[in-house]
This record gives sequence, structure tokens and C-alpha cells, in this order.
Amino acid sequence: MIRIGIVGTSSISERFAEAVGVVDGVEVSRVASRDAQRAREFAEKVGAAGIAVGLEELLAVDDVDAVYLASPNSAHVAQTQTALDAGIPVLVEKPATLTAPQWEELVGRAAARGVVLLEAMRSAYDPGIAAVAGLLPRLGTVRRVSLRYEKRSARYDHVLAGEQTNIFDPALGGSALRDLGVYPLHALVQLFGVPRTVQGVRVGIASGTDGLGSALATYDGFVADIAWSKITDTGLSSEIQGEEGSLRIDAIDAPRSLALTPHGASAEAIRVEAPENVMVGEVERLRDAIHGADIRADQDRTTATLRLVDALLAEPLR
Ligand SMILES: NC(=O)c1ccc[n+]([C@@H]2O[C@H](COP(=O)([O-])OP(=O)(O)OC[C@H]3O[C@@H](n4cnc5c(N)ncnc54)[C@H](OP(=O)(O)O)[C@@H]3O)[C@@H](O)[C@H]2O)c1
Repeated sequence: MIRIGIVGTSSISERFAEAVGVVDGVEVSRVASRDAQRAREFAEKVGAAGIAVGLEELLAVDDVDAVYLASPNSAHVAQTQTALDAGIPVLVEKPATLTAPQWEELVGRAAARGVVLLEAMRSAYDPGIAAVAGLLPRLGTVRRVSLRYEKRSARYDHVLAGEQTNIFDPALGGSALRDLGVYPLHALVQLFGVPRTVQGVRVGIASGTDGLGSALATYDGFVADIAWSKITDTGLSSEIQGEEGSLRIDAIDAPRSLALTPHGASAEAIRVEAPENVMVGEVERLRDAIHGADIRADQDRTTATLRLVDALLAEPLR
């Protein structure tokens, strides 16, 4: 049994604990918060036996075999370094780091110590992405890829009220690109490899970070447009267009409802069967990695995605 310690007590940690609960061979043994009372309350909520105040305390106990880090983006690097240096495998929330070089340093550090390091990019392990990949041959030569994740966040209301909030706070690595844009970018890399070029526009909001944006990525023979937003909603789907057919995808982070329309024919609806909890796949991947699965390709996809993010962040806010 792999005993997992959770760092962070927000709703995503709760969802992660639920996912651990339905995966064989893993359990949540302990939860860590910066505050003891919050840790106790969260441990009770998710049924964890123990608590810790802070990461160092979590790493000092002997009932934690791996950690899941669900802290604000700006805390990921230091926490990951600390855990790796203690020889503890890490599953760190997306985006794993603020820059690609930071991630490459962590990957090197993990390799040098022989410790597992994985980004919690849940879409990468989602059966919906595998289903999309399996349908690509039916589209013929791909010519256009249009992937999007646009969802207005309730926390944007805080920004509109003149308050700072973590997910939109540049000091904490907050950004719509880093929060939601990484899903279509990672899916792009996973499905089609690293693009030749990427250019983009990020639209700024009062908190000092991007609220939405678009990117154009090029490949030999086709183009990809990527859209992300945490300040607007959309009625649009993602889509992949090939010369022999097109594929509509309801949600690129967790595809469930697909529609394949062969050229000149009517659409075929495809339903993707998947666990209810979208984090199950990454928990299984962590477990398998700890048991020896080769995760170098997973790490390389994170590197490639973060390089795209770096390129897009280099552009000034509009
Ligand atoms: N996979 C997904 O679907 C998904 C969904 C949402 C978020 N995420 C990712 O999960 C991570 C956390 O996001 P979130 O929105 O949950 O963040 P958050 O609410 O701002 O922070 C998460 C936890 O980190 C701790 N924390 C808060 N501020 C901190 C600080 N300044 N320094 C250190 N720890 C701090 C808090 O726990 P304590 O106060 O108990 O220490 C808090 O519960 C991000 O990387 C985000 O991208 C992933």
C-alpha cells in the first residue's frame, strides 16, 4: 500500500482524496496544512488518520510514501525540491512549475535521487484523450486543430470587487493561462507533438495577470488555435479537422461526448466511459510510477507544455 500525504486543504485536495479512495494500492495517510486546526478538519473530512503542520513535518513522519502537492503555483518548486531531497515521490499540481527550466531542474534532481516526479496533469491520463487519439486516423490528414478551455471563475468576482485572490494573483503564479490554458496546450502536445512555432495574445485583468488569451501554433501542414479564459464562458467545443472528417470534443480536459463527422456523411456520436472522478487516472499513474513505470515521456510532455507557456508569458498583456 502506498501511503500518500496531501499538502493543501482546498477543494482540489478533497477531490484528489476521493480519487485515491477508488484506486487500488493507495491510501491517504496524512494531510498537511499551514494551520493545525485546518489540517484536523480536513483530515476528518477526507478520512485521513494523521495530520502535519507544514511540509517539513509531513516529510518527517514515517507513514508517508509519496506526496500530492496542491498549493498555489508559486509554492510548487520549493515544496517539490524539499520532498525530492527527502527521497519522497511527488505528484505536483499543474502547472508543475512557473517556468520550463525550473521543471527541467526538478526532473534532473528527481533522476539523480531515483525518486518519482510527476505533474498532476489529469487530462493526460483521462480516457477521453485516449479516445480522441484513437479516432485521429479516421480524420485523414489533419489540417486544423482548435482546442479551448474557457470557464468564468467565481473568483473573478473578487477581482472585479478590487480584491486580490490567489488564482489571479501574479505573485502566487496565478494566471488563466497557467490555470486553464495548460489543458489545451498539454493535449495539443500529447496528441500532435511539439509545435514548430507558437505565438499568442494574453488579455490582462485588474489583478495584474491574464484573464484570457489565444495562441496560434504551427505544425508542418496544419495549424492549431488554442483559447483559454477564466473570465468568460463559451458555448463552443474543441474540434479537430482532417481532410476525411472532423471531430468535435465537448471538453478537452475530460472529453466525454465526441462527434465524428466523416466528409460528406452525418455525425456519429461517441460517448466516452470514464470514472466519475477525473483525478483517478493520475493517481493510478503515480502508483504505477512508484512501482517502476517509465514516466520520462510524461515528464517530457510537461517540459514541452511549459515551454509553450513560457513563450506565451513572454508577450506583454493586452
Ligand atoms: N487538477 C485540477 O483540476 C485543479 C483544479 C484546481 C486547482 N488545481 C491546481 O491546484 C493547485 C492549488 O489550487 P487552489 O486553487 O486550490 O489554490 P489555493 O486555494 O490558493 O491554495 C491551495 C492550498 O494551498 C495552501 N495555501 C494557500 N496559500 C498558500 C501560500 N501562499 N503558500 C503556501 N500554501 C498556501 C492552502 O492550504 P492550507 O492553508 O491548509 O495550508 C490552500 O488550501 C494549483 O496549482 C492549481 O493549478 C488543479
